[in-house]
Amino acid sequence: MKKTIVANWKMCGTPESTKLWAQEFSSKSANIPTNNKIVVCPPAGLINLLKNALTENKPDLGGQDCHAQPEGAYTGETSAELLKSLGCEYVIVGHSERRTNSNETSETVRQKASRAIKSGLIPIICIGETSKQRENGKTLEIINQQIEESLPFEANSNNFILAYEPVWAIGSGKLPTMDEIKQVHSAIINNVARRIAIDVAKVCVLYGGSVKPDNAGEILSLPEVSGVLVGGASLKAEDFVKIVMSCKY
Ligand code: 13P
Repeated sequence: MKKTIVANWKMCGTPESTKLWAQEFSSKSANIPTNNKIVVCPPAGLINLLKNALTENKPDLGGQDCHAQPEGAYTGETSAELLKSLGCEYVIVGHSERRTNSNETSETVRQKASRAIKSGLIPIICIGETSKQRENGKTLEIINQQIEESLPFEANSNNFILAYEPVWAIGSGKLPTMDEIKQVHSAIINNVARRIAIDVAKVCVLYGGSVKPDNAGEILSLPEVSGVLVGGASLKAEDFVKIVMSCKY
């Protein structure tokens, strides 16, 4: 089964570190399995530089967020159209860091995902519960609500990806058990398939949160997991390549 492995650099990287990353990725990725999809999402200001610095086995590119409007007086924002014209195929929307730090609601996330689709990008729509919600046994309730409110009306069998990122697992080194990942991914897949009337096999759900070279293989081996969304461990090209290489399925 083809898997999608996405690097989210967040607000990290400089022109210098990006050139080094690209050199290292290009030199170490000669043997990466070609049947998988690799996507790198650097900060918007580094997209062009990364694109030009990559020489071999070029991954696809993605943005980390986009605005819901196509253009206009939105100081500091990045449009989906600009990302597309810079060569991106994907854009992350609804990351928990944006839901928390920028007070993004699921309705805003839906509008951003919708704009991404209209601009020819595939939105990677992030959902996930906080530790408190998990402790209160509300994981599936929260997930279902986020799907209901964040999924764009244009969603069909091949124009979006979901990423399950438990908020408490991001950057913490903590991970759900493999059984928990399977359970939540199955719930997401069944919910989405029913909601937009598509085959369960067509629902693409990535796992994100403390994915590292030493746990990626096990996570990626789960049939319910369509790929991984990697933060910290994607900043070193060597570690990111190890994660890509651990995908043997
Ligand atoms: P970490 O891999 O650093 O836990 O981050 C996950 C994430 O937020 C990816 O979007």
